[in-house]
Amino acid sequence: MKKDLISITDFSKDEYLKIMKLAAEFEENPNQDLLKGKVIATLFFEPSTRTRLSFETAINRLGGKIIGFADPDSSSASKGETLHDTIKMVSNYADLIVMRHPLEGAARYAAEVSPVPVINAGDGANQHPTQTLLDMYSILKTQGSLDNLNIFLVGDLKYGRTVHSLLMAMSEFENPIFNFVAPPVLEMPDEYKIFLREKGIKYYEHSEFTDIISAADIIYMTRVQKERFSDPIEYEQVKNIYILRNSMLEKTRPNVKILHPLPRVNEIHTDVDTSEKAYYFTQARNGVFTREAIISHIMNLK
Ligand code: CP
Repeated sequence: MKKDLISITDFSKDEYLKIMKLAAEFEENPNQDLLKGKVIATLFFEPSTRTRLSFETAINRLGGKIIGFADPDSSSASKGETLHDTIKMVSNYADLIVMRHPLEGAARYAAEVSPVPVINAGDGANQHPTQTLLDMYSILKTQGSLDNLNIFLVGDLKYGRTVHSLLMAMSEFENPIFNFVAPPVLEMPDEYKIFLREKGIKYYEHSEFTDIISAADIIYMTRVQKERFSDPIEYEQVKNIYILRNSMLEKTRPNVKILHPLPRVNEIHTDVDTSEKAYYFTQARNGVFTREAIISHIMNLK
């Protein structure tokens, strides 16, 4: 049976750990010809820099070939071809499909239509499971464990698919504590709070973070996503609500790391970039090794 990765909950805790181990192996030795003779399609119906290019780097490092598009206007979707027909066609050509789409649920639908495995590279405000696996790899590398961590999620918790996936994955580990920092219009959706309550996991909600981040092991900043707002005035009111500055890190724990899925706009001041607590650029680099691991796991290459 084919294996898809659409929601982070499609993988078990054991699979998360297997991917962490494989990612470490690929970081040691990134160039392995495991995809020789295979064709991978990368279909990006929404803009991307890191996800598409790190997937394509991973595929190249594994010796595979790439087909696809970075802009749906260059595909027959612009002529009105349905997602159903696009996926049916591409699955004739490729051994695996990596897809980003603006509609929540589009990746699950593609997986139902496709006879070849599908990896969700982000579907609207829903899920971004491969980002979560690289976030977990980054947390494990910097903290030495995925257990007993105090994780601050800051910014757009309503539309932020990366925080939704991360919260679900980290809830599988021992004793996580979550602190949500968001304005009321961008607070964590109820379904995720209910999910945590049902698992007996503690979470706290805040509208300010300057005085409380001293307790954090991970500060996960997110961009307020202009493209998800239907009301531009509402976006203007919250777009610069949280800006992390280097001076705010003085009283934070020595082990704390600042993560961000990127791209950033203003939410992390550039004066943080030189701090040893800033980890977001290395986090993005970890995406290559983690995506090599995900492809390897899904296609049973090792
Ligand atoms: N983190 C992330 O998904 O970045 P891109 O939108 O550039 O792919």
